[in-house]
Formats: sequence, C-alpha cells, structure tokens
Amino acid sequence: MENQCQNGTETLLKVSTLNCIDLSNPDIHQSVSLLKQACLDCGFFYVINHGISQEFMDEVFGQSKSFFALPLNEKMKVLRNEKHRGYTPVLDELLDPDNQVHVGDYKEGYYIGVEVPEDDPEAEKPFYGPNVWPEDGLLPGWRQTMEKFHHQALEVAKAVARIIALALGLEVDFFDKPEMLGKPIATLRLLHYGGQVSDPSKGIYGAGAHSDYGLITLLATDDVMGLQICKDKDAKPQIWEYVAPVKGAFIVNLGDMLERWSNCIFKSTLHRVLGNGQERYSIAYFVEPSHDCLVECLPTCKSENNPPKFPPIYCATYLSQRYKDTHAELSVYKKHQT
Ligand code: OGA
Ligand code: NI
Repeated sequence: MENQCQNGTETLLKVSTLNCIDLSNPDIHQSVSLLKQACLDCGFFYVINHGISQEFMDEVFGQSKSFFALPLNEKMKVLRNEKHRGYTPVLDELLDPDNQVHVGDYKEGYYIGVEVPEDDPEAEKPFYGPNVWPEDGLLPGWRQTMEKFHHQALEVAKAVARIIALALGLEVDFFDKPEMLGKPIATLRLLHYGGQVSDPSKGIYGAGAHSDYGLITLLATDDVMGLQICKDKDAKPQIWEYVAPVKGAFIVNLGDMLERWSNCIFKSTLHRVLGNGQERYSIAYFVEPSHDCLVECLPTCKSENNPPKFPPIYCATYLSQRYKDTHAELSVYKKHQT
C-alpha cells in the first residue's frame, strides 16, 4: 500500500511501505522470505526487536545532540582525520556532484570507527586506528555511550547478515567468518541536519542522492521525516518516496558492495535526505567485512547464463576509492587548524 497526495501533476508526498524484519521472530523462514523480497525489490527494510533498548537509543541521541550543540571551534578541534574519524562540518561531503552544484550536503557528522590503538600493527590498515574523541570532561560519558552503541549495533548487523546469508542461499554463518564480520570495518556516524529547507531544483539537499558503499547500513532516525528512496534510478523522472521513521526500528539498507558481491541480484538503492525546515538527527552504522576480504561473486549468484559482472576486489581497496570520490580533500580545512 502506498499513500500519495497529489497536487496537480506533482507528487508532494509519497510514503513507501517497507517490509519489517522482527529479529525476535522464531520463524526464521518467514524472516528470510520477507528480507529476500525487500532486497530484490528496493534494498530497504525495517528491523525491529533488535535488542537495543529504547532507553539506550535515547541516550545515544541525547549525547549526539550535546556534541553538535558545541561551538564550532570545539567541534573543529576533533576534525575528521585521514582515517575518517572525527567531525565532518556542513558542506564537507558532496554525494551527488552532478546535481549539487558547488555545494555539499547540509549536514554535519561525526565518524567513530573500530578502536585500534596507535601501537597495534593493525592500526596501519586504512580503516583501522584510534578514534578521535572530544576532550575529557567536555561531554561526560560520551565516549562510553558511543563505544557501547558501536558494539551493540555490530551484533544487530551480524544478526541481519545471517538472514541475508540464508536469503542468498549461503550457509547461515557465511558472514560470521573471521575475514568477514569477524574483523569488520564498522563505522558509526552521528548526523545532524541543521534545518535548512532543501530545494532539489537548486541542488540543495540535506544529503544528496547516493547509495551506501558497504555491505549494509543500519539507520536510526528521530521522528522528523526526511529520508527518501528512489527504487528505479533510471526512471525519468525519478520517483522519490519517503521512508517514515518508526520508533525503535532501524531502517536497514544494502550497500554497493553487497550489490556487487551478489552479482546485482540484491539491490543497493539510491536515497537522499530532504530538509523541511526542522532540525533532524540520525545515526548511521555502516558495516563492511575485513580489510582483506576478497569481494568476489558469491557462488550462489552466478551461473553459465549469468557470469560474474565484476572482477574480484579487496574490501579495503573498494572502500578507499569510494571515500576519495565523495569527500573534500582535508587540505581545504587547513585554515581552521592553526
Ligand atoms: C547516510 C544516509 C540518511 C539519514 O548517512 O548514508 O543515507 O537519514 N543517511 O541521515
Ligand atoms: Ni546513505
């Protein structure tokens, strides 16, 4: 069922109805079939009863708000480094260069990755290293809250990945192996949309149209509408549908790496965020396998008539390229770092 409000020929508000996966459902076959349908259709679904308490989610959102409420000079002290950890100011990210002329996204963010101490040899890997944290005492309990969320969200992602594995005809623990989600690249990103009204005709967006890079993304949002998906990126004109926030649910979407891995059987879908004048907070958790995982057409996704569409690629190589394509060069911030 889809709701639509028409004004002349223009669609003002179309709300998409997504399948809902209940992680506490003992009938795994039902979950697999709902998830499979969602992954073939639009690559987006809700996940409920995921085990993270509402109380704790509220705490994470509260801490996120406290960070973004800091003065800009405090936030610039924890500016994102070359390992993609820390603060990303408004207009840092240009997701859709063709349609966002000279401006980036009207959102600010904060990246928190897997914490690997500086002196650990693993810290040399491009997406591993120590995180950047706001100064001690500035935001009491902040780091602990974020680290706890990082761990809990990873468990949710692993539970979802098991259902994805079954939906792809793989062993249930396919993504649990050490080179997969046993040693994941997992990035928590706090996001704050400042309340600018978006205007697609002027190329002004909260977040420009993009698909996520990795395996899956878990997204928690507040109750402000803003996220839109486009099920068919080649349709002219493109049709954008809102995804409504559901209290307590994660909105989960598949990333390009999974699309590639599954030989395009599963879809990563274009999405964007439109600002409506209200401030909006969301929390994205991007999940990818280990740096050294070779992303090579899954055995169940190829046949004589449907050979692999892409050559194998290492996970870290793929991700590095995607980040480089969409983020400002760090040197543009030099003037702030005196
Ligand atoms: C993202 C994203 C959507 C949102 O960060 O990749 O799509 O609602 N975020 O903030
Ligand atoms: Ni996204």
